[in-house]
Amino acid sequence: MKTIEATEGALRASPVTWLVTGAAGFIGSHLCQRLLQLGQHVRGLDNFATGHRHNLEALREEAAGAGSFEFLEGDIRSLADCRQAVEGVQYVLHEAALGSVPRSLEDPLLTNAANIDGFVNMLVSARDAGVRRFVYAASSSTYGDHPGLPKVEDEIGKPLSPYAVTKYVNELYADVFGRAYGMQTVGLRYFNVFGPRQDPQGAYAAVIPRWFGELTAGQRCQINGDGETSRDFCYIDNVVQANLLAATVESPEAVNQVYNVAFGGRTSLNALYYGIRDLLSVRKPELAALEPVYADFREGDVRHSQADISKAARLLGYTPQYAVEEGLARTAAWFLGQSST
Ligand SMILES: NC(=O)c1ccc[n+]([C@@H]2O[C@H](COP(=O)([O-])OP(=O)(O)OC[C@H]3O[C@@H](n4cnc5c(N)ncnc54)[C@H](O)[C@@H]3O)[C@@H](O)[C@H]2O)c1
Repeated sequence: MKTIEATEGALRASPVTWLVTGAAGFIGSHLCQRLLQLGQHVRGLDNFATGHRHNLEALREEAAGAGSFEFLEGDIRSLADCRQAVEGVQYVLHEAALGSVPRSLEDPLLTNAANIDGFVNMLVSARDAGVRRFVYAASSSTYGDHPGLPKVEDEIGKPLSPYAVTKYVNELYADVFGRAYGMQTVGLRYFNVFGPRQDPQGAYAAVIPRWFGELTAGQRCQINGDGETSRDFCYIDNVVQANLLAATVESPEAVNQVYNVAFGGRTSLNALYYGIRDLLSVRKPELAALEPVYADFREGDVRHSQADISKAARLLGYTPQYAVEEGLARTAAWFLGQSST
């Protein structure tokens, strides 16, 4: 098992071709950026359903170095688009999907089409193109109503939303494609990822970018429930590390597996709110006394979530380098930079 430093060194020495789906989104754009910094050849696929063209700008700048970046505007619900995207690719990092539990409760058909039909299109295309490995974004929502804490990979409950169903179905399909066709897949169950470029806008924005966006605009934030709901918030660079390790790990027992990807801690919404407010107050003192508004609990939300990350540590060599506090500080710097331009 290689450390992340050794993995990155090996990639730099022998660049390969990667497909990142969802490249214009939050996680996908960070994956592309790191791969380009490592001199890789990167193809991005996105239909801009929730992603943004401006996220691709940072990538074009990185591509001025040793690597190369090519972007395909396309839809994973189209098998032809998926086939075109995987041509000549060694590793697929499949991030494209419609996120958000509330969106899936409002429109289960739309979520199903992108997250299940689109996923199977990508699997079939990757299988037929003979890609070396297919790494995909799974989700902590798969733990559903299982009460255990911290969450361990093989103890899951019943899904609490259509979104959670789709992410669990992804794991089932990936497993079957491993058994039936000998494909190498790795699923990464992300736990509440955050960082620069995460979208603060819209009804389905995640809590951290939403609060950064609202507070930098001087608005009050809403907490759903009593604020003691907790999550294992994970800074984006930890997620990038997990993807690089998952794509390149050589040990056969590490492949065709699903892993928790998180920091391994737990932060309440109240602690999160005051943490963000205090970070921003240094530059915006008028926020220092701003209190949140409390509203009802949200349908489909689990009360507490925390990952056991020992499986990823043991089999992938995953060692998250950014705790929540450091990640929030970096994210705050980015949002403050955005609001001053
Ligand atoms: N952010 C998190 O905390 C989190 C947690 C668990 C799992 N995930 C998963 O990680 C992945 C990336 O999430 P994100 O936070 O970067 O979200 P995001 O919305 O920023 O990125 C998703 C990208 O996929 C694209 N996309 C959606 N439907 C598509 C389609 N039919 N064809 C092509 N592109 C399509 C969107 O335009 C967007 O750019 C998703 O699969 C999501 O379910 C994210």
